[in-house]
Amino acid sequence: MPSREFYVPPGGPPPADPRNAEIYAKMGEENIYRMLEDFYGELERSSIRHLFPGDMREASHKSAAFFVFLLGGPPLYQQKHGAPMMRKRHLAFVIDENARQVWLGCFRKTLEEADKKYQFPMEYFDSFWGFLDRFSLWMVNSK
Ligand code: HEM
Repeated sequence: MPSREFYVPPGGPPPADPRNAEIYAKMGEENIYRMLEDFYGELERSSIRHLFPGDMREASHKSAAFFVFLLGGPPLYQQKHGAPMMRKRHLAFVIDENARQVWLGCFRKTLEEADKKYQFPMEYFDSFWGFLDRFSLWMVNSK
């Protein structure tokens, strides 16, 4: 494969938002896994589906393990897959601003009525969304 030039977003990796730690306490592991399964269901029907592997359910579980940790739970992802190094892991895929917008759009849809679907505490919606917005910027690796 020919090498490609990576785009590096300015500003470096964003810090985690400590407010998000309350979310796991309310939702628990099972709801977070269900939320990520639905999110990957949205991605499966999206224009960036080709970036993802065949088995979206399995792929969603990898992400769910990371979100359990991000939202204040145990480091499941690290136990199963090692150091997150998320930007590095995403370099295998061409992610531009359009892909980021589609990804965020799928998450936005998943979070509609998330309080009813997954016990998501809506008082933390803004801090969680702000985190996704900033963290996804850091995953962009192509102009
Ligand atoms: C900017 C938009 C993003 C796109 C287009 C994107 C795309 C992808 C793709 C294609 C994979 C590989 C799937 C696989 O092989 O299983 C992946 C994996 C993953 N993504 Fe993203 N991603 C984005 C942003 C994010 C963000 C913001 C987070 C976390 C807050 C995240 C967390 C993960 C995790 C935990 C994995 C699994 C990594 C692994 O162990 O292989 N992604 N993503």
